[in-house]
Amino acid sequence: MKRLAVLTGGGDCPGLNAVIRAIVKSSALKGIEVVGICDGFRGAVEGDFIPLDVKSVSGILPHGGTILGTTNRDNPFSYQSKPGSQEPTEDRSGDVLRNICKHQIEALLVIGGDGTLSIASKFSTLGLSVVGIPKTIDNDVMATDLTFGFQSAVNYAQEALDRLHTTAESHHRVMILEVMGRNAGWIALHSGVAGGADVILIPEIPYDMDAIVLAIRARVEKGKRFSIVVAAEGAKPKGGEVTIEKIIKGRPEPIKLGGIGARLCGEIEALTGLETRSTVLGHLQRGGSPLTGDRLLSTRFGVSAVEAAIRGQFGQMVALQGNRVTLVPLDESINRQKLIAPDDELLFAARSIGICMGD
Ligand code: F6P
Repeated sequence: MKRLAVLTGGGDCPGLNAVIRAIVKSSALKGIEVVGICDGFRGAVEGDFIPLDVKSVSGILPHGGTILGTTNRDNPFSYQSKPGSQEPTEDRSGDVLRNICKHQIEALLVIGGDGTLSIASKFSTLGLSVVGIPKTIDNDVMATDLTFGFQSAVNYAQEALDRLHTTAESHHRVMILEVMGRNAGWIALHSGVAGGADVILIPEIPYDMDAIVLAIRARVEKGKRFSIVVAAEGAKPKGGEVTIEKIIKGRPEPIKLGGIGARLCGEIEALTGLETRSTVLGHLQRGGSPLTGDRLLSTRFGVSAVEAAIRGQFGQMVALQGNRVTLVPLDESINRQKLIAPDDELLFAARSIGICMGD
């Protein structure tokens, strides 16, 4: 192995730079050159490649985001030169293969969530030597216990809940925190338990407004005149639909969720008579410096991906299973989301300490 390339695709998250750094540093010690591909698969189509040496990754470990840039729109198999424009999509996968060949790249390390890894898997079936590295704050990638970025996002949400507690208590209000996670409730459940929420609403358990109102009223009867509600952006009422902020045409995932907090706010205030406020945490969850746990996982994933490439283990994804980083076939992780199972241990713990899960 003389030269490999790395790209970051999909929404950014804390820890991406830590992976890039681990890839470059461990490769350098083995005499392998690393090429960075800018802005995910867009750069692979357009030939936007830059050399990455140890100097270029110096100091990036604590920085959020990605020095390579990213995009959650561009799919080389149905590509638009001007994203979001009216122009028809075209298959530009051939350009990716030509660019990789032109730069004499022997392995492509793809850091991404479900969408980006699905593209990587498609290239793998076309014969490209690919290793996947799962990332996302949502923690919804199958076949890995954890994705990096998740722990930092959860910690941020938990800090927000700590802050909401003091103002909720002072004003005797119901405070709602809307968190990200797409169709998975991992961020909501983990931050909600860690942040002492009274009600946690996750997409996996459609909520019943009567149950929420009952839980808040029961607290008032016990003298607790405030309540904290965490709502995953993908939470939905029983028999109802998710709340959509907008549809973004031309994206692999066109639905942008958002607005559940505001929706619940009006309903809870009307039904309980308690003053209610809603806060949307939004992209603050994705920004900032990675926490220790994410830096460690990113570093382990980066090193393992380079090792896999050297051993020629392509079409695989690095994954955390138990306490070990291992490899799983890329197609075991794609096109499926890891959701919270009914027998999830933390879900059981949440219920056991009296948290209302909306049902
Ligand atoms: O997948 C990561 C994520 O942050 C989701 O939690 C959220 O629904 C989505 O990306 C937001 O996407 P965008 O960056 O397009 O606003």
